[in-house]
Amino acid sequence: MAIDIKSPKEIEQMRVACRMAAETLLLVGEKIRVGMTTEEINTLVHEDTIRRGAYPAPLNYKRFPKSVCTSVNEVVCHGIPGPQVLKDGDIVNVDVTTFYKGFYGDTSATFYLGTPSEGARKVTEVARESLRRAIAIVRDGARLGDIGHAIQEYAEAEGCSVVRDFVGHGIGRRFHEDPQVKHYGRAGTGERLRAGMTFTIEPMVNLGGFEVEIDASDNWTARTVDGTLSAQFEHTILVTKDGHEVMTERPEPLRMSENVVAIFA
Ligand code: MF3
Ligand code: CO
Ligand code: CO
Repeated sequence: MAIDIKSPKEIEQMRVACRMAAETLLLVGEKIRVGMTTEEINTLVHEDTIRRGAYPAPLNYKRFPKSVCTSVNEVVCHGIPGPQVLKDGDIVNVDVTTFYKGFYGDTSATFYLGTPSEGARKVTEVARESLRRAIAIVRDGARLGDIGHAIQEYAEAEGCSVVRDFVGHGIGRRFHEDPQVKHYGRAGTGERLRAGMTFTIEPMVNLGGFEVEIDASDNWTARTVDGTLSAQFEHTILVTKDGHEVMTERPEPLRMSENVVAIFA
């Protein structure tokens, strides 16, 4: 299927949904604490989203039972909020998708709880930097493979691995649309990016091997097969004529995630 090119009006509407998602993620950074349950994060995200007159897209999406994904430590993605208590040293990805007036905005970040281990810092900062590098190459005329290559080359050089089983995705009037955005691959391959395309980049980086397995009891929770830590960051990106716009960019630093390593280094 052809990749949708958004009109200026659609782009303006997407900006609104994306800003809401970014602001809800900022709120998570303000509130997240050791001793909190992932269910409490769900409540926070759900209530903040509803307060905005928006809808939390994960809720009932393909029977997902909650309003946000909370993926702790070896959970790669699609963790279901529940009674798990966040403890000192945990890392948790919180993935917020906001649906507002017909459009989706999708963004996630990995947060540090208390004092991170060396491995936790490593995998989290490699995931953060791999997304930054991938975004930097986005412009009209670049190729999808350039994105995957930028992530894989950096993450593997740092001794980490890149998850293959989940990809970024086109986004707009639908939560997931074409194209699939792989987080590994070869530069100079794949479809050309064109101004007006909107998609997510959301690399999942593991401290050990890239293999993941889905929990057989809930059919959602994806964990590393070897039990090593996994981290993820996600932004919704607009391709522009001479570069890109990070539609879920935050207007201020993300607490409990950005600048944490500087404190412990
Ligand atoms: N937000 C996830 C993504 O980045 C999708 C979550 S689907 C859910 O694509 F059902 F688990 F919420
Ligand atoms: Co996404
Ligand atoms: Co997401």
